[in-house]
Amino acid sequence: MKKQLIQLEINNRLYEVPVNPRDLLVDVIRNKVGLTGTKKGCGQGDCGACTVLIDGVPVLSCITLAIACQGKKITTIEGLADAQGNLHPLQQAFLDHGAVQCGFCTPGMILTAKALLDRNPRPTELQIKRAIAGNICRCTGYKKIVEAIDAAAKEISTGGVK
Ligand code: FES
Ligand code: FES
Repeated sequence: MKKQLIQLEINNRLYEVPVNPRDLLVDVIRNKVGLTGTKKGCGQGDCGACTVLIDGVPVLSCITLAIACQGKKITTIEGLADAQGNLHPLQQAFLDHGAVQCGFCTPGMILTAKALLDRNPRPTELQIKRAIAGNICRCTGYKKIVEAIDAAAKEISTGGVK
C-alpha cells in the first residue's frame, strides 16, 4: 500500500511522518515519532493505556487512525513537563502518593486526569473515579491514583502550575 506523508502536531512540535491509511495513532507515535511514553495494552479500546489528548480530549490512540489526526493538537505524556523539565503536578502527585507501580497504565491515567482537571479543577472523589473508569490499572487498586489526582487538583487550584 502506498504511504502518504502527513504532518502531526504532537506536544507543540510538528512531525512529518510517512503512514499507510490504516496506521494507528499509537503505532505512529511510538514507532515512527519515537515517543514511547504512550503505551499499547489491549490494542482494542478496552484498557486506556494508549490514551492521548487530542485537542484536549482523551482519545484511545489504539483505535484512532493517524491520518485522521492531521490539523489537531496531540498531547502525549512527554508533553506534560514544563520547558525546564519540571514534572506536571499530576506526575509529581502520582510519584508522591505511590500511584505508580509497574507504570504501564500511568501515562494514560495521567492524561485522562489532566483532561478532567482542565474541565473541572476541583472534582469530587466520585467524579475522579468516573473520569478514570476507562483506564485499567492492574497494580494499585486505584485508591492511590484517586488520592494523587485529588492532591494534584488541590495543588493546581491553590496556585500551583498548569
Ligand atoms: Fe488502547 Fe488498550 S491499548 S485501549
Ligand atoms: Fe501497573 Fe497501573 S501501575 S497497571
